[in-house]
Amino acid sequence: MAIDYASKIPNNVGLNSNKTLQRALEHWQPRYLDWWREAGPVDAEASDVYLRTAVSVETGGWAQFDYVKMPDYRWGIFLAPPEAGRQVGFGQHLGEAAWNEVPGEYRATLRRIIVTQGDTEPASVEQQRWLGRTCPSLYDLRNLYQVNVEEGRHLWAMVYLLHAHFGRDGREEAEWLLERRSGDADRPRILGAFNEPTPDWLSFFMFTFLTDRDGKYQLAALAESGFDPLARSCQFMLTEEAHHLFVGESGIARTIKRTADVMKANGVEAPDQVRALGVIDLPTIQRYLNQHFSVTLDLYGSEESTNACTFYNLGLKGRFEERKLDDDHRLDHASYPVPRLDARGVHLEQVPAQLALNERLRDDYIADVQLGIDRFNKLLQREGLAFRFKLPDKGFHRQIGTFAGQHLSPDGTRLTQTQWDGWRHRWLPSQSDREFVASLMQRVTEPGKFAGWIAPPARGIHSQPVDFEYVRLS
Ligand SMILES: [Fe+2]
Ligand SMILES: [Fe+2]
Repeated sequence: MAIDYASKIPNNVGLNSNKTLQRALEHWQPRYLDWWREAGPVDAEASDVYLRTAVSVETGGWAQFDYVKMPDYRWGIFLAPPEAGRQVGFGQHLGEAAWNEVPGEYRATLRRIIVTQGDTEPASVEQQRWLGRTCPSLYDLRNLYQVNVEEGRHLWAMVYLLHAHFGRDGREEAEWLLERRSGDADRPRILGAFNEPTPDWLSFFMFTFLTDRDGKYQLAALAESGFDPLARSCQFMLTEEAHHLFVGESGIARTIKRTADVMKANGVEAPDQVRALGVIDLPTIQRYLNQHFSVTLDLYGSEESTNACTFYNLGLKGRFEERKLDDDHRLDHASYPVPRLDARGVHLEQVPAQLALNERLRDDYIADVQLGIDRFNKLLQREGLAFRFKLPDKGFHRQIGTFAGQHLSPDGTRLTQTQWDGWRHRWLPSQSDREFVASLMQRVTEPGKFAGWIAPPARGIHSQPVDFEYVRLS
């Protein structure tokens, strides 16, 4: 049966005027759907889900909300509108016209950047595959599915670039993006954090609050790229990413709110007593935060990186909001502080800024996460509770860079192996923490009802009421 891509894949890239490209994507699409069925959300094929679908890139009118069966979701390809006369904004090509085709000598480097970004998108869908079975409400189930289909669309965005600009190599990489699996021993996803399990909804909210935020910073750096199709793809992906971050932050805030309400109503504070009332004690939430934050920090790579330096000098990957930064955008003479470890502990050392771009992006990210933590603490303050959340030191529980193989406490003190082994469960979720959280994960599917461990949201999605039937289960 011939598939009508002109109507099947919404796009603003003129797909039906490029038959070769259309055929290539036509070959890839059924394979993508096979992947979705095999590795995407369980038990969800026949449910009608109230989802937004990107239908254009107009601000304000870019999305359409309606009931959709997920395998029928119209995964589209959208690039933000071109900017007339756009120039490369940094590095050695600063001020030259941005490229619409891949410069031949940068092909392998650029392909690697796109594949690495593209690989995270299906990975997160795989990580979240089982969560539907324990959803705390239909509202939350819908949000999970929304994040899932949009990560699928982000995969489409990267696969489009591979197919359109990288010939046979690009097509092979697009196949591989469907072959790797999160957590698989033989063919894992490329980056560590994307092979970690997301077994419960507290982990899911931490992932969307913290790891999707890494996505925001990586996409923002790529949205500055001199390769214009990549820049415009990432600009539009960022529009969708905002909702993923909202799902994470509001999910954690609602969990904290519910715990605070129960603590106050019963006049209890001790974690055991709090747990006995069926809500997640605040120290456990802190340990989940420590875990996800530290694993996500590794995604930025080593403090000093010649790869990051190359990406910048060639004009392929910029800094966060490069255009808004007031400097020479070449960084030939600038320096940046990176952490170093010695016998006494951590100190900062100035190194050439071009080498420290990973660290700089990580610092920009940490500052953004801190704002979210401040909002959680305001909530605790309003509730009249003394507990405060605190981000661990950036050297805590790291596997990549200066801190790999070292042990630091959350306040940045260097520890011996014995101290670390003795204390790590104060700071990271233990097996019994995970079992407790898992014990609360009971599926709730009556419209307007919520599991006992989480507060309802302040409002629904797209002006619908909170008790709207966000998912019509099959
Ligand atoms: Fe994404
Ligand atoms: Fe995302």
